[in-house]
Amino acid sequence: MRKRFLGLSVAFTLLLPVSQALAKPPEGGWVFDSSPDYPDFTRVIIKETGGKLTGVITSRWYGDLPMQDLRAEGDTLVFKINNGNPRVTPTDIAIKAEGMLIRMTGKLWYQSFNLTAHKGSKRELKALDFPTYPLPPHRIVPQKALAPTPPMGWNSWNRFNTDIDDKTVREIADALVSSGLKDAGYVYVNIDDGWQGKRDTNGVLQPNAKFPDMKALADYVHSRGLKIGIYSSQGPKTCGGYEGSYGHVEQDARTFADWGIDYLKYDLCSGEAFYHTRETVYATYQQMGEALAATGRDIVFSLCQYGRFDVGSWGRDVGGHLWRTTGDIEDNYARMAWIGFDANGKPNHTGPNGWNDPDMLEVGNGGMTTDEYKTHMSLWALMAAPLLLGNDVRSMTPETVAILSNRDVIAIDQDIAGVQGLPVKKDATHEIWTKKLSDGATAVGLFNRSDRPITLSGEWAQIGLGGASEVRDLWTHTNTRSDKAYSYTLPAHGVVMLKVR
Ligand code: GLA
Repeated sequence: MRKRFLGLSVAFTLLLPVSQALAKPPEGGWVFDSSPDYPDFTRVIIKETGGKLTGVITSRWYGDLPMQDLRAEGDTLVFKINNGNPRVTPTDIAIKAEGMLIRMTGKLWYQSFNLTAHKGSKRELKALDFPTYPLPPHRIVPQKALAPTPPMGWNSWNRFNTDIDDKTVREIADALVSSGLKDAGYVYVNIDDGWQGKRDTNGVLQPNAKFPDMKALADYVHSRGLKIGIYSSQGPKTCGGYEGSYGHVEQDARTFADWGIDYLKYDLCSGEAFYHTRETVYATYQQMGEALAATGRDIVFSLCQYGRFDVGSWGRDVGGHLWRTTGDIEDNYARMAWIGFDANGKPNHTGPNGWNDPDMLEVGNGGMTTDEYKTHMSLWALMAAPLLLGNDVRSMTPETVAILSNRDVIAIDQDIAGVQGLPVKKDATHEIWTKKLSDGATAVGLFNRSDRPITLSGEWAQIGLGGASEVRDLWTHTNTRSDKAYSYTLPAHGVVMLKVR
């Protein structure tokens, strides 16, 4: 008892001088002299009420973040902040008085900082108030039938990151046509993060200088017989730090519709600090779903929140047509295989007009072997995944063209029944997947997950098939028959994909 009392009183007396220095008005509010672009801190407010210290840090990404676990250690205030990202473990941040200033050191996510702040006047602090906006009450948004089969097209992110511009998008549209990929089904040309500029005085979001005229670009893409997509976030900032739709949801939906946009990828990004419950995340997607519907334009709605809160169970209810099931893909076998083999969305969530989205393709970007890219393509097709090219379609090797335009494999992906295939056999070295097709046949994927060749042999009956009067190899495009048994040799990380009748 006594010990505990002593401990508390020591902490309390240590706390007083710090709180006196940092918390008493007008010293309670501090304005940062500068901040890194992420997390773009603007001010700190520390308050002491009845001997209890509380504090809030404001960030242009995350709004007001309460100081958690706030305590005094000697002459330093120590606390944590939580940006709502479940992958980030908050670490200690320290604030110390330094003459007339305070100094804050620490780290948030990947960003370390060492910043000074000066005493803020009332006016200065008020100007940094971060606005909050009400969310709509729970409703179901009628889903438009815009994606009867998984959407196919191209997206700028995997290859170009934010280094994307009007000229490149036009050239990509041209290349989709001239390479035959458009005829193979890839029709959406989607601009990901990095197109945004600032809002004008009426709040209308403008593209940045790399996109001089979005409407003209949309017209151009449409003139090539293609459709155009764009990207935004319900947060104040997109993942790349560009302007999000926070506080401008309806206005942005109207802007996109006015430009002639056909597809919106809506990415939670900095919104994860504001919206970190299933209800609030739902409400933000509902809000954009309703805003898109109100424009009257047909716009495919792609939900990107990394598979949180069982999104597949409610993605359709916000008018969504596809929803990411994981964090980002990378152009390497380990990450692709983890997403494709080990982190699938629930099969009962996928089907016509609403698809589990294991992220975009990396085929052609150079980080995997040809066999690994065939595995990637085969797996995505068996899963009925959206097929969004992530490479530079202006310059492709013949192998890349052959993989991406393999119509036998694309037909498995686009099968109108919209069934997500499943593994029927899984062990350390291999997996066998099947997918029921609308014509009564079955697509089969034999996958080698090991880094040396293996032979897979067995009887069709062991993988749930009665027999095989006709077996088409979808990568060699040859037909065989084999009544009872199969045997295939697979290269390292390779695949044999079949359509079996
Ligand atoms: C997130 C998404 C990616 C991409 C980037 C853009 O990481 O998951 O697909 O859109 O943002 O910044």
